[in-house]
Amino acid sequence: MTVHFIGAGPGAPDLITLRGRDLIAACPVCLYAGSLVPAEVVAFAPDDARVIDTAPLNLDEIMAEIEAAHQRGQDVARVHSGDPSLYGAIGEQIKRLKALNIGYTITPGVPAFAASAAALGLELTLPDISQTIILTRTAMKSSAMPAGEELAELGRSGATLAIHLSARNLRQVCRDLIPHYGEDCPVALVYRASWPDQEIIRGTLANIREKTRAAKLTRTALVLVGRVLDTDAATDSRLYAADHRHILRPDG
Ligand SMILES: C[S@@+](CC[C@H](N)C(=O)[O-])C[C@H]1O[C@@H](n2cnc3c(N)ncnc32)[C@H](O)[C@@H]1O
Repeated sequence: MTVHFIGAGPGAPDLITLRGRDLIAACPVCLYAGSLVPAEVVAFAPDDARVIDTAPLNLDEIMAEIEAAHQRGQDVARVHSGDPSLYGAIGEQIKRLKALNIGYTITPGVPAFAASAAALGLELTLPDISQTIILTRTAMKSSAMPAGEELAELGRSGATLAIHLSARNLRQVCRDLIPHYGEDCPVALVYRASWPDQEIIRGTLANIREKTRAAKLTRTALVLVGRVLDTDAATDSRLYAADHRHILRPDG
């Protein structure tokens, strides 16, 4: 018996991987994080599968479902939104699986930051502007940020920031970042990237909070910050420069 952690992708059902879809279709038990995993993805489960939304369950209750499947010798599809390695709380499940000697696999998924960049029609790494993306969040009611990982600290890097779980915390986001990025730094808030009700709000560190408040988008949004959002600022890369020679283009 194996527990398969599967990334459902950001929302559009055709953004799950083929492997993820096939694993869901093969498992007699499907446990999914209901708030962000679309119904169409859960529908890949067999008709007679035990399908449970884990949103209202605590960790002990989720593990009880997995242990019961283990007793029955049934594989479990454990479906998380986006990619399971990011803010999915799979670490605590893996710890318990190891203690129970239950095997597991992880199937990656398209993360929200990639879907948001796609929705914006952007490359997040532009020559001379930014070559680093920091995937982060801010602390509100849940886990605190470890020392040294506060936005005010990360902002010193000037890197492109993909800030999760923070649509309700824009006052602090902007306050912490303005000293490093400037009030005019472009910001995009992407609400439910790839879902049918996707919305995009563009602004700057000076006005994004006001714009977002007016649009009443407070959940499931990614906040991207950085000069890469201003595509006109980019210079061309060396990779495709006519005079750049490399092993596959020795004559330039
Ligand atoms: C619990 S985290 C899950 C992240 C997910 N594992 C991933 O790989 O993107 C939820 C946060 O991810 C972001 N998020 C997830 N899906 C999103 C989407 N479709 N559009 C925009 N942001 C999304 C939001 O910041 C949301 O608050």
